[in-house]
Amino acid sequence: MPEVKRIGVLTGGGDSPGINAALRAIVRRAHAAGVEVIGFRDGWKGPIKGEGGPLTLEDVSGILYLGGTILGTSRTNPFEKKERNGETVWEPTEKVEAIKGNLKKQKIDALIAIGGDDTLGVAHRLREHGVKAVGIPQTIDNDIGGTDYAIGFHSALATVTDALDKLHTTAHAHHRVLIVEVMGRDSGWIAVYGGLAGGADVIIVPEGPPEGSFSVDEVEEVIRRRLKQDKRFSIVVVAEGARPRELGGKQVASGEVDAFGHVRLGGVGYWLADELKKRNLPLTPRVTVLAYLQRGGIATPFDRLLATRFGVKAVELALEGVYDVLTGLRGTEVEAVPLAQALAECPKPVDQELLRVAKAIDIG
Ligand code: F6P
Repeated sequence: MPEVKRIGVLTGGGDSPGINAALRAIVRRAHAAGVEVIGFRDGWKGPIKGEGGPLTLEDVSGILYLGGTILGTSRTNPFEKKERNGETVWEPTEKVEAIKGNLKKQKIDALIAIGGDDTLGVAHRLREHGVKAVGIPQTIDNDIGGTDYAIGFHSALATVTDALDKLHTTAHAHHRVLIVEVMGRDSGWIAVYGGLAGGADVIIVPEGPPEGSFSVDEVEEVIRRRLKQDKRFSIVVVAEGARPRELGGKQVASGEVDAFGHVRLGGVGYWLADELKKRNLPLTPRVTVLAYLQRGGIATPFDRLLATRFGVKAVELALEGVYDVLTGLRGTEVEAVPLAQALAECPKPVDQELLRVAKAIDIG
């Protein structure tokens, strides 16, 4: 097994609180093993352009709690999406050669990629090109397979819960239907965990039958039922990827598509409010879109611990020569999960048990 002397690290995709805690753990664990760390800037753009430099103990001092990523991030993809015989294939572009060249130039023995399914998918595809990588899952969406939780999810959850606590008082005072749109892309993890923790009356997730994941009628029914119980307000949590049956699909913010082919979501909250206005309810609908607030702020203790454990494990896997895996939390253990397996499970659908719990306590 070749000795590992230098590890490269990059952070890609949408940021989330806890990434910096992982970087701190990586540098500290590597330092203890006498291994140098090179931090690449802005996701895969860093190794493509050769932009990066040593990440020292000093660089990672005082960043444990800090949101964002000191390395910067981007949604850069060195592969190109192609359709062949009805199948999606990712073809390497000249950027893959650039990555190989720059990793060689910087004498990188192993790479740690911290990100969501897109960033980790690139790490996996690069294996065929001789790149040895270990992945660390981070995304507020919590939609990565192979791990119970990704870094950032719990911090986003804390933000959503806090917002719902605050919105309750004003909804109650003004007798309103407050619709809260949350992120999560095509997964309802933030919606269902946040909605349950924040006491929402209706939780709408993207998961569900192909014809749609909810209907306006169902939402109206819950609000009217609550009115009969003399509850003159309602809180509705709706995931950005929720699919109204009346619309026959998702609400997109714009036609903008990123380098991985994802269209920008957003707007279902406003759409729902407009539809509810047509139903002549005695309560006025209002909308709060939590958007990027969910990705910001300090990391919760859970995320700091998870990130620290993932960072330590990622370095140890690289030292053992175990690649093409991600660090996954399974129950209470952090394990190496093959990237191929974890990626095949993406997007990880929301836990059905949580939806059952919501129904069991009469949440619509
Ligand atoms: O993947 C995290 C996420 O915040 C999603 O919930 C959301 O749909 C997306 O990123 C937004 O992406 P961008 O930062 O490109 O607007």
